[in-house]
Amino acid sequence: MNQPVMGGIAALNAPTYVKQRKLISWVAEIAALTKPDRIHWCDGSQEEYDRLCAEMVAAGTMKRLNEAKRPNSYLACSDPSDVARVEDRTFICSAKQEDAGPTNNWVAPAEMRVTLNALFDGCMRGRTMYVVPFSMGPLGSPIAHIGVELSDSPYVAANMRIMTRMGKAVFDVLGAHGEFVPCVHSVGKPLQAGEQDVAWPCNPTKYIVHYPETREIWSFGSGYGGNALLGKKCFALRIASNMGREQGWLAEHMLILGVESPEGKKHYVAAAFPSACGKTNFSMMIPPAAFNGWKVTTIGDDIAWIKPGEDGRLYAINPEAGYFGVAPGTNTATNSNCMASLTANTIFTNVALTDDGDVWWEGMTKEPPAHAIDWQGKDWTPEIGKETGRKAAHPNARFTVAATQNPVIDPAWDDPAGVPISAFIFGGRRSTTVPLVTEARNWVEGVYMAATMGSETTAAAAGQMGVVRRDPFAMLPFTGYNMSDYFQHWLDMGKKIAASPAELPKIYCVNWFRTDENGKFVWPGFGDNMRVLKWMLDRLAGTAGGVENIFGISPRYEDLKWDGLAFSQEQFNTITSIDKAAWEAELKLHAELFDKLKYHLPKELAAAKEQLEKRLAA
Ligand code: GTP
Ligand code: SPV
Ligand code: MN
Repeated sequence: MNQPVMGGIAALNAPTYVKQRKLISWVAEIAALTKPDRIHWCDGSQEEYDRLCAEMVAAGTMKRLNEAKRPNSYLACSDPSDVARVEDRTFICSAKQEDAGPTNNWVAPAEMRVTLNALFDGCMRGRTMYVVPFSMGPLGSPIAHIGVELSDSPYVAANMRIMTRMGKAVFDVLGAHGEFVPCVHSVGKPLQAGEQDVAWPCNPTKYIVHYPETREIWSFGSGYGGNALLGKKCFALRIASNMGREQGWLAEHMLILGVESPEGKKHYVAAAFPSACGKTNFSMMIPPAAFNGWKVTTIGDDIAWIKPGEDGRLYAINPEAGYFGVAPGTNTATNSNCMASLTANTIFTNVALTDDGDVWWEGMTKEPPAHAIDWQGKDWTPEIGKETGRKAAHPNARFTVAATQNPVIDPAWDDPAGVPISAFIFGGRRSTTVPLVTEARNWVEGVYMAATMGSETTAAAAGQMGVVRRDPFAMLPFTGYNMSDYFQHWLDMGKKIAASPAELPKIYCVNWFRTDENGKFVWPGFGDNMRVLKWMLDRLAGTAGGVENIFGISPRYEDLKWDGLAFSQEQFNTITSIDKAAWEAELKLHAELFDKLKYHLPKELAAAKEQLEKRLAA
C-alpha cells in the first residue's frame, strides 16, 4: 500500500508471483494514463479486506456496524447522484453499429477511445489504483473466465472479493500466457495535492463502455453496483453474451435453483426476471408449510452461464461467488434464508442506520424504528417518512454477501460441471394483462414469449419507475450484441438440443405482480410461488393438467396445490384471466418491438406472432 511515488509515476511493484508480461505491461500502461499515486495488487486475503474496510471507515466511506448485532459488517452510503445502473450511459462499441443493434447505445470504437483517453488521463491522481484479479466461475475450471479490474475505488476492491473468486490464486491460473478480460474502472475524481476527499467520490459524467471484439471494459464516473463491479453485468453478461454467441453457449440474467420433491426427485430450473423482479427471492424461497418435504436450494441468484454438455443437455453454472441483492422488501417472512445470510460479514449500501448501530430498510420489520439516520445521512422518523414521503433506505439499496453464507446453498453450487436445466422460466412485473403462468407448447413459442416480455421499470436502473417497457429475456440492458441475433442464437441452441438425444427444457412465462382495483398484489408470491413451480415440475413429469389457450398451456384452478392457502377460484380468475382488448394492445407493442428489431429478426418469431394474432382474433 505504501509504494513510493517516483518522479510522479507510481512504482509498479508487481508481485513476483505475477508471471504474465502482457498483464504487467497493461497495468503499467493504464497507470501511465490514469496517474495514480500508488498501485496495490490485491491478494484477496482476509487481512487485506479488513484493511481496505478500516481505511474506508477512516475516510468516511463506510461505517462499521454494531459488532454485537452485525459482526464484521459495514454500511456505505453513496452520493445521491450515484445509486443505480445508468443504462443511457452504457455503450456497446462494436466495429459496426448493426452489431450493437437498436437496443444498445453505440459509438464507433475509435471515437469512444478518444473520449475515454481524455477522461482517464490523470483521473486517478491522489488515489491508489487497485489491481483486482478475479475469476468468474470456479478457479481453474474449464468453464470459468478470468478478468482483471483496475480500479481507484477501495469499495470496488472489497465488493469484488465477495462477488467473485478474487485474489492471488487467479494469477497462478493465468500463468504466463492465460487469457483475461481487461477491465478499467475509475470513479473519475482525481485529487489535487492536499485536497480533502469526499465520502463517495464519483463524477457527473459517466461512461460504461464495452468493446465486444477486443473484449475490453472501461467504466468511468460511478462507484455503484453494476456500473463499477465489472465482473457482473459488464463481463458476465455483456462481454460473455458475445463469447457465448461465438462459442455456442448462453450468458443469461437468470437465477438457478434446485428443487427436490419429498420422494427425492431433483430438478434444476433457471429463471430470468428483470432487475428487482424477484430472482434473489425465488432462488432461496422456502416452500409453504403444507409442502412438507419439498426443498429449494440455490445455485445462483442473478447470472447463469449455460453450456451444452456431452449428453446434449444444457448445464448451468453461476459465475459469481456472492449476492449483490435488493434490500428493501426483504424480511424474515418474504425471504428468511436471505435474512439469515446477512447476519454477519456483509456490506450494506444505501440502507438506513439505526440508533443502536444496525441497519434498517423499508419492509425489513413491520414496525419501523422510532428514529434512524437515512441513507443520505439525515434524521429519519416514521413521522418524517409519512410527511415527506422520504424513504429511510434508497429503493435500490443493496447488500453484498458471500454465497457461502446462504443456509440453502446447493451442494453443487460451485461444481465446475454445472447442473442440468429442466426448465426455463421468464417473468416480468406486470400489474395487468399477463397471467400467472403459461407453458409454451414448443421451443419457438417459448422464445417468442421471452423475446416479447414486458416489465414495469424498477429502481435498479436510473430513470422513470413503473413504466412498462419491452425487456426481452430480462436482457434488454445486458445483451452485448444485436438483440435479433440474440433471438436467433436462442433458436439455434434449441435446434442443436433437438438434434441431440436430450430432451429440450420446457419454457414457462410467469407474472407474480398482477394487482387488484386498489393496486394491491393479488398473488401472495414469495414462498407461495412454490405452488406454480410444483405445477411446472408435474408438467415435466406428465402428471399435471392444464388447458390450451391462445398463448400456450395454463393450469386450471384445480391443477395447483392449494393446501395451507386460502385463495379462491375467483381470486385465481383475476390473475389468470386473458383480457382480449388488453392483449390486442399488448400485441401492438410486440409489433412495435419487432419493427424496431426488424434487421435480422428471425422469421420464426414473426410467424409465431401471426399465429397468435389469428388465435386472438378467432
Ligand atoms: P436484481 O438483483 O436487480 O437483478 O433483482 P432480483 O430479480 O434478484 O429481485 P429481488 O429478488 O431482489 O426482488 C426485488 C423486489 O421484489 C424485492 O423488494 C422483493 O421483496 C420483491 N419481490 C420478490 N419476489 C416477489 C414476489 O413473488 N411477489 C412480490 N409481490 N414481490 C416480490
Ligand atoms: C441488476 O440491476 O440487475 C442487478 C444489480 O443485479 S447491478 O449489479 O447493480 O446491476
Ligand atoms: Mn440483476
